[in-house]
Amino acid sequence: MKFKSQKVAYYFFALSMILLLLQLTYGFIMAFAHMGFDGLHSIIPFNAATATHKNLLVVWLISGFMGAAYFIIPDESDNELYSVPLALIQFWSFAIVGVIAVAGFHMGWFEGRKFLEIPRPLDYLVAINVILFLANIVMTIYKGKRHTTTAMVLTAGLIFVAVLYLPGMVWFDNHTVDSFFRWWVVHLWVEGVWELVMGGILAYLLIKLTGVDREVIEKWLYVIVGLTFLSGILGTGHHYYYTGVPKYWLIIGGIFSSLEPLAFLGMTLFAVTMYKKGNKKHPNKLAIYWTLNSAIVSFLGAGLLGLAHTLPGVNLYTHGTLVTAMHGHLAFWGAYASIVLAVMSYAMPLLTGRKIYDNSIGHLAFWLANVGILGMTAAFAAAGVAQVYLQRIAGMDFMVVQNELHPHFFVLILAATVLSVGVILYVVNFYKFGLPNDEAIVKEEEFKALQTN
Ligand code: HEM
Ligand code: HEM
Ligand SMILES: [Fe+2]
Repeated sequence: MKFKSQKVAYYFFALSMILLLLQLTYGFIMAFAHMGFDGLHSIIPFNAATATHKNLLVVWLISGFMGAAYFIIPDESDNELYSVPLALIQFWSFAIVGVIAVAGFHMGWFEGRKFLEIPRPLDYLVAINVILFLANIVMTIYKGKRHTTTAMVLTAGLIFVAVLYLPGMVWFDNHTVDSFFRWWVVHLWVEGVWELVMGGILAYLLIKLTGVDREVIEKWLYVIVGLTFLSGILGTGHHYYYTGVPKYWLIIGGIFSSLEPLAFLGMTLFAVTMYKKGNKKHPNKLAIYWTLNSAIVSFLGAGLLGLAHTLPGVNLYTHGTLVTAMHGHLAFWGAYASIVLAVMSYAMPLLTGRKIYDNSIGHLAFWLANVGILGMTAAFAAAGVAQVYLQRIAGMDFMVVQNELHPHFFVLILAATVLSVGVILYVVNFYKFGLPNDEAIVKEEEFKALQTN
């Protein structure tokens, strides 16, 4: 690492790791409940488990994004972070709000709006926290010695993420109106501004890992940002089909959301082309694997599996079924989980000065986690298609169909176990790096020497 203050990133990464493990635990609780083994029901009913699973996902990813920003922005701006104490206050308050939210879900304190379950009073604390974070990042850039496109895209993405949280904080009495604006958060996050965050991190990692010129990499970034906004904004319509909004959303949503895979395809081509063009000399192979994984699997999970149910005629049957869970898992994994795991894989050796980046545990973790999530996606797909057919086409009762799906959840649990072993190995590796230390500053030169350019 170049600057001592980048060490702050470590806390956010470590928090991410803990929350990821917890998220998986809640996934198992739900998967067993789907098979009829719902012994924990009186303590953790399904609604609490599902809210916890999804919110932990969002929180560990955002913690990863924040860590990434604290690591990347000082490096890109060629300056220390504006304020380390502020960053530490922000870290602890972020972690505390997260713990209160999760504890609250178990006591029935939540709003029931999928992904936005956190109660409004806590939303205000989240908002203050995010303002502290953004202020620190923006001031770092402002005081910085250089202003790069990569830093701008990453920071603009993070600012938009914060702004787009606001529509979810307004109270609406009408369910349709509430749902309409909930999608401004959920959809415009994952199919809009989070893509900018992903694009920014991806560009940074490619610059560092491939040795290709920044100018070339940043030109691609503009194209991706353009494609994202062109398709993603009006693509929101694919959630409006049958929710009580005017009919024109059928055509708008259908056309623009069908274009969304282009942005993810752009991301894949971008990363693969830069990798091929690069010198392939960087020793941190695992960081490259995770980076390419993110760019490729996001296209499969978000682009292709999104396209599979985005047309109104298809969505009429698949809406709200396990087909959505199939897509949700691979999309989140590819686009956001993988990019966070990539930036951590890149940053940890630099933060700690320990070069244990290319070890067998790390490689095993990579393959098991990916094979596991692909298996899970297949199990959800089989369950989803069966559910659509039996429930929506053959007209069987919802709960009767759920019983027919037990074998698919058995396969899901097997695949989830493979994923979990992979994730546990990743976490073991993470803690083997130890704590960040100041000596690592000198050591960066050794890593740098291995890059050309
Ligand atoms: C041990 C591993 C995991 C298991 C067993 C698991 C299981 C589940 C189950 C059973 C559901 C509820 C499906 C339903 O009834 O609608 C669910 C929902 C969800 N999970 Fe997981 N999950 C795991 C890991 C993950 C990971 C790693 C991610 C993200 C990268 C993730 C993201 C999601 C999302 C986004 C939903 C909501 C899906 C929807 O909108 O329909 N899960 N998970
Ligand atoms: C990384 C990007 C993406 C992520 C993380 C993601 C994740 C998700 C999640 C979690 C849901 C369930 C939301 C909810 O019910 O609250 C969902 C729904 C949906 N997604 Fe995506 N998605 C992504 C990109 C895409 C793309 C590019 C498309 C289209 C090409 C798409 C099409 C859809 C559709 C049609 C639904 C609605 C499913 C239903 O009616 O139940 N998604 N997505
Ligand atoms: Fe969407």
